[in-house]
Parts: sequence; C-alpha cells; structure tokens
Amino acid sequence: MFALNSLSLSIALCMSAVEAWPSQSYKTVPFITPVFNVTKSGSPLAPGYLFLTVTSAPYPASIIITDEGELVWASQSGDYSNLNVQALDSKPVLTYWNGTGSPNPQIGGHGYGGVYILDSTYTIQHTLCPDLDLAADGPTRAECQADLHESYITDRGSLLVTAYNATETDLTSVNGPAQGWIYDCLVFEIDIKTKEVIFSWSALKSGIPISDSKQPLGTSGTQSSPYDFFHINSIQSVGSNYLINSRHIWTTYLLNSKGEIEWRFEGSTGGDFKLPSGIHFAWQHHPRALNVTPTSLVLHLFDNANSPPPFSGVNQTLGLLFSLDLNKKTSTLIHDYYDPKQTLYAESQGALDLLPNGNALMGYGRLPIVKEYGPQGDVRLSVQFGDLNGTQQSYRAYRLEWEGVPAADPVVFAEKGYAYASWNGATGVKRWDIYEGMTANNVIYSHSVSNAGFETEASISITTQFVKVVAVTSDGNRSSATVPVS
Ligand SMILES: *[C@@H]1O[C@H](CO)[C@@H](O)[C@H](O)[C@H]1NC(C)=O
Ligand SMILES: *[C@@H]1O[C@H](CO)[C@@H](O)[C@H](O)[C@H]1NC(C)=O
Ligand SMILES: *[C@@H]1O[C@H](CO)[C@@H](O)[C@H](O)[C@H]1NC(C)=O
Ligand SMILES: *[C@@H]1O[C@H](CO)[C@@H](O)[C@H](O)[C@H]1NC(C)=O
Ligand SMILES: *[C@@H]1O[C@H](CO)[C@@H](O)[C@H](O)[C@H]1NC(C)=O
Ligand SMILES: *[C@@H]1O[C@H](CO)[C@@H](O)[C@H](O)[C@H]1NC(C)=O
Repeated sequence: MFALNSLSLSIALCMSAVEAWPSQSYKTVPFITPVFNVTKSGSPLAPGYLFLTVTSAPYPASIIITDEGELVWASQSGDYSNLNVQALDSKPVLTYWNGTGSPNPQIGGHGYGGVYILDSTYTIQHTLCPDLDLAADGPTRAECQADLHESYITDRGSLLVTAYNATETDLTSVNGPAQGWIYDCLVFEIDIKTKEVIFSWSALKSGIPISDSKQPLGTSGTQSSPYDFFHINSIQSVGSNYLINSRHIWTTYLLNSKGEIEWRFEGSTGGDFKLPSGIHFAWQHHPRALNVTPTSLVLHLFDNANSPPPFSGVNQTLGLLFSLDLNKKTSTLIHDYYDPKQTLYAESQGALDLLPNGNALMGYGRLPIVKEYGPQGDVRLSVQFGDLNGTQQSYRAYRLEWEGVPAADPVVFAEKGYAYASWNGATGVKRWDIYEGMTANNVIYSHSVSNAGFETEASISITTQFVKVVAVTSDGNRSSATVPVS
C-alpha cells in the first residue's frame, strides 16, 4: 500500500490507513470515493459541476461531483491531473493528463504521461502520448513525455503542454558545480490531429538566469537529482502569445509567438511592473489572463506564499486578482479571496478561476478543499474531501458545465428485496423504470423511482429473480440493464 505521489513536493507518501477521512461505497460499482463535506451559505453559485482529481487508489483518479457532494462521474484509478472541459472543433470535450510522477523521489512535483481527450459519451477521441526528445529521468526514458501541469487546448485546435528535461548546465552562478544538472522547463504546442509540434520554448535557451530562482539549490544539481530552478506549472494561449508561469522564480511571463519575453510579473519586486503597495506573492499557481486589450489585462493567480522557505504558516493562501496596465507597467489589486473563518496554508498546487456569474472558484491544491466565493469575496460554498493533515489533494479544481451521455450501459445490482441502479457519467437521468420477473426475458414493469444521485435504490418483490432497470432521461431517452437477483 505504498504509492509514489507525483504531486507531493518532495517525498513519497504512505497511503495506508492513516487517512481517517470517511469514504463512501456503492452497490453497483467496485470503487469507493471520499465523502464530500459540503457547506453552503445559500447565496447563488455558478452553474455546473465540480471537477477534481484525487489521490488514487483506493479512489478513482478523477471525479465530477454536484454542489451537494454527489458523485456524477468517476474515472479509472491512476495518476491523473487537470480533469477539465475544453472546446475542440466547437464541441465540449473532457480532457485529462494520465501518467506517472517523476521517478526521482527527491524531486517529485512533475510527471511523464499522455493527454486524453474524450467526447460527451466518455469515448476517447484523441490520445496524445508525445515523444518530446527528453532525456531519461531515472532508469528509463518515459514513453509519453507530457508533464502533468498543463493540458491546454487552444482555439486553433492545438494542445499546450509543459515538459521537464534533465539537462547539463553550468551552475556556478548559484554556487553549484560547473558541470551541474537542471530540469530545463519546456513548452510544446502540438497539433492535436497531426501530432506535429508547431511551437516549442525552453527556459534555459531563452536566457532566463538560473540565479533568478528562489528555490534553494540544496543538495540538488547533480545528474541523479537535477536542480528544479524554474518549475513551470501553467501555460495559457493569449492570442498568438503564451502566458507561462514559473513557481520557483515567482514570475509569470508573457512570451510572444517567437518565444521572446514581452514582460515579467514577479511576486517580490513586480518584475517589469510596480506591485500594489504591501502586496506580494510567491510559489504561485495557475495564472490566467482575461479581458486582454493591447494596453491592459486582468490577471488572477493562486498565491502559495506560505510555502517554505521562509513563510510556512505565516502567509495564508490567497486568490489574487490584479489589473495590469501594460503601458504604465503598473498593477492594481482588484480583489483578494480568502475565508476569514478558515485560514488555509496550501504549500503547493491550487487554482483560482473566475466564473461566468462573477463568482470565483478556488481549488486549494495540496489541501483537499474547494471554495466558491461571491463577487464581493463572501464564501458561498466549501467542499472538503480529506483530512487537512493527510495525503488527499487535487492539483487543480474547476467548475464547469457538462452534459454526459455515456456510451456504456447503466449498471444494476439486485439483492433480495432491493435493486440499485447507476450510470457513471450520465447527467440527464430523471427516473428509473423498474421491471421484475422470474427469467431475464420475461420481466414486466412494476414501478418507477426518481433518480437519487449517483446510485438509486428501488424496492422489489422478495420473490423476484430478475430485474431490469431503464434509465429515462429528461428528453425521453432510454437505456437499460438486466441482472439476476443475487
Ligand atoms: C463536515 O462538516 C460539518 C459542518 O461543518 C462538520 O460538523 C463535520 O465534522 C464535517 N465532517 C468531517 C468528516 O469533517
Ligand atoms: C493511464 O495510464 C496507464 C499507464 O500509465 C494505462 O495503463 C491506462 O490505460 C491509462 N488510462 C486511461 C485511459 O486514462
Ligand atoms: C533534453 O536534454 C537532452 C540532454 O540531457 C538533450 O539532448 C535534448 O535535446 C533535450 N531535449 C529538448 C527537447 O530540449
Ligand atoms: C509574507 O509575510 C511576511 C510577513 O508578514 C511579509 O513581509 C511578506 O511580504 C509576505 N510574503 C508574501 C510573498 O506574501
Ligand atoms: C489528522 O487529523 C485527524 C483529525 O483531527 C486525526 O484523526 C488523524 O489522526 C490525523 N492524522 C495524522 C496522520 O496525523
Ligand atoms: C438523448 O440521446 C441523444 C442521442 O444519443 C443525445 O444527443 C441526448 O443528449 C440524450 N439526452 C440526454 C438527456 O441524455
């Protein structure tokens, strides 16, 4: 029961019985899920479901839940990140990264894998398992080389991924060896249909000084433990430019289409901008630009400023929303999001997203908590799915609208007196029609029950030998499954 958790900062974690948090089991499916503890203020939430990745076994790797904490869809188990809904060919698609963490347990925090693109029936439409010409990181060279941090589909039908490449370089500027080793951080834009790489960028080749890093060299800098000086963790396509983020340089960069740096927004000095008075950020995740004009934009990020060193337990986690003036190179804080009743310190991961109704969603990354804030910063929803001192986490969390009509059939389980029905990923089921009989081919309608969340229970006669359930959707679609009573 030991598993290497790719998203943890530095160590392999034991995932055995220390997790005291309650789980939920089901009659119709073999997996269990954490209990989702939901608190609501009653003020309006944005539409959609919550999309999470959870630490795997015994749980599925990715899940979609309702605002009531009710399961909608669960993936297979594995090491997933970034479960998301994006648009491809003007259609909503479900995307996630699946792979393995860095084999180097001293480093962790990045991975090697593929990006999966599923349609609304949960059928895989595209698998991108890119060979990006990376060096072996550990004993073997990974077959699929996309890193776990970003799987961003652009409006030109391409995918943006991050990559980590163990590379030899001079580390004397940080008092390291002349023949030292780093993880170079790379950006790749890949055409989803042809799989061709149409843009690439390297932090090392761009000339960003290694000494800009805030990450201590420590004992890293060797081939077996490369120095993670940059730690790329996000990319956004902004017109023909790219907004990328370095956790370890505390800097968000705008790259132009040639990969040249247009500007830097840094958390302690401001970089090319003046920071608002008294405002700093550090080790941040998931910066995104919106309302972009030639002279201004809004930029939000998840501030992991508590991360050691040196502010562990000092600087609480904040969601920061800035306005940047690209001419005057000034910044203004529009809003900071935090829960005054629950101070949280997320050392890694996390995300902030603005929602269509003006609310904001924060997934607390390393901490198994998601909160939705109103436009004025009032806490409207809080969902917890693990102990704060445990291993449970979700790299990012999203709130997204989604309609799933699974290609797979519903599932029914029946025991003396009861039948249970579920349909993993179906969002439109209104009711279940129950049929009972003595043989599989001779069941007759007995009654209907309203859909009651992920799994619906119905009573059946104690003499019934076979049960058929029919999922009936709001627009009258029917899908069925039949089982003998066990
Ligand atoms: C769930 O939340 C309620 C209300 O905040 C709290 O009383 C309860 O202890 C929580 N359950 C767990 C398992 O933390
Ligand atoms: C995820 O990756 C593993 C190997 O790392 C593979 O066995 C499994 O089929 C993948 N599952 C999907 C489709 O996400
Ligand atoms: C990765 O690093 C190796 C050297 O360790 C180098 O040969 C290779 O070209 C690099 N790949 C990329 C995509 O930069
Ligand atoms: C962290 O807190 C210290 C002490 O209040 C403050 O000086 C510093 O600016 C904060 N750092 C960040 C990155 O927020
Ligand atoms: C974590 O906290 C919970 C609740 O306070 C406690 O029951 C559990 O023993 C703690 N686990 C560890 C590993 O400290
Ligand atoms: C009903 O079936 C059609 C065709 O498969 C599908 O497009 C539609 O989304 C389904 N409706 C629901 C609510 O599942």
